Amino acid sequence: MAEHVTIVEVGPRDGLQNEPTAVPVEVRIELVRQLAQAGLRSIEVGSFVSPRRIPQMAGTAELLRSLPRFDEVIYGVLVPNEQGALEAVELPIQELAVFASASETFSQRNINCSIDESLDRFLPVMELAQARSIPVRGYVSCVLGCPYEGKVSVRSVVDVSRRLSALGCREISLGDTIGIGTPREASAMVRAAAAELPIDSLAVHFHDTRGQALANILACLDDGVRTIDSSVAGLGGCPYAPGASGNVATEDLVYMLDGLGMETGIDVSAVAAAGDFISRHLGRATASKVARALAVS
Ligand code: HMG
Ligand code: MG
Repeated sequence: MAEHVTIVEVGPRDGLQNEPTAVPVEVRIELVRQLAQAGLRSIEVGSFVSPRRIPQMAGTAELLRSLPRFDEVIYGVLVPNEQGALEAVELPIQELAVFASASETFSQRNINCSIDESLDRFLPVMELAQARSIPVRGYVSCVLGCPYEGKVSVRSVVDVSRRLSALGCREISLGDTIGIGTPREASAMVRAAAAELPIDSLAVHFHDTRGQALANILACLDDGVRTIDSSVAGLGGCPYAPGASGNVATEDLVYMLDGLGMETGIDVSAVAAAGDFISRHLGRATASKVARALAVS
């Protein structure tokens, strides 16, 4: 039987949070609907953060109230603190995600507190989630480099990952926020994390700023990682990671996994159609090479 790989679609959140203008909630809903119909079973749909900092994610509550439901589709949202979690748990969500960083400066710029403070802020989030049996994902940003500090130690990545896991996060997503890493570095970082945490609790999250994302993912697949974040049409970026481009495109990832004989349950043409829908709305060409090839073939 083909080996299964879980893709976590982050386009509606990571993808749209960095757009110069906010995408209307109706368009976000239609995007999520098309992604679910394409076979994506885990979709990060928005975040409960300061609307002054990230106005693009305002309306996430309205979005969740209106999203169509599909069997087995998990809708997740980012929450940085108790305030966000209190709002999120009243809505129909299946997963929360907290986000920390392996770099102190990025933590300060992104969420206005130190790494230690961020983990303290996650405590009430974990309590709320546990009381309602909602699973929590934990992100670690800057795992292969920081836009402000440059090199980030693998020790720091492993340390923050372990602490998130000890708080109760069921999965740790290791984020190359600025798309700076190359395959051997990615592999060394994942192996160091896997030495202390179960490999099936690790996910990888590569931004494709320097075109290394698929190569990095292949290296991490060889190390046994089976959960990968990606973004339709290669949308994405973080406003606190200047110059960072989108995540690896879901279309390109599915195409590669299909070619490797790995099973995802996702229809690449249907994801490309969802990518076409959102790219048209944004008035831009898709960043997915596979989607471009499909469009001309
Ligand atoms: P803070 O420490 O309170 O201070 O917020 P602040 O000055 O940044 O913001 C304060 C304002 O936010 C106050 O409102 C609070 O009420 C409000 P004001 O008095 O100014 O009107 N506030 C909130 N509003 C809505 N929901 C909340 C909430 N909490 C406080 N939950 C905070 C800390 C984290 C909230 C803030 O700094 C923030 O929203 N930052 C944005 C973080 C963000 O969304 N970054 C992008 C996502 S992370 C990412 O992309 C990386 C990832 O993809 C992985 C990777 O690639 O590495 C996950
Ligand atoms: Mg990201």
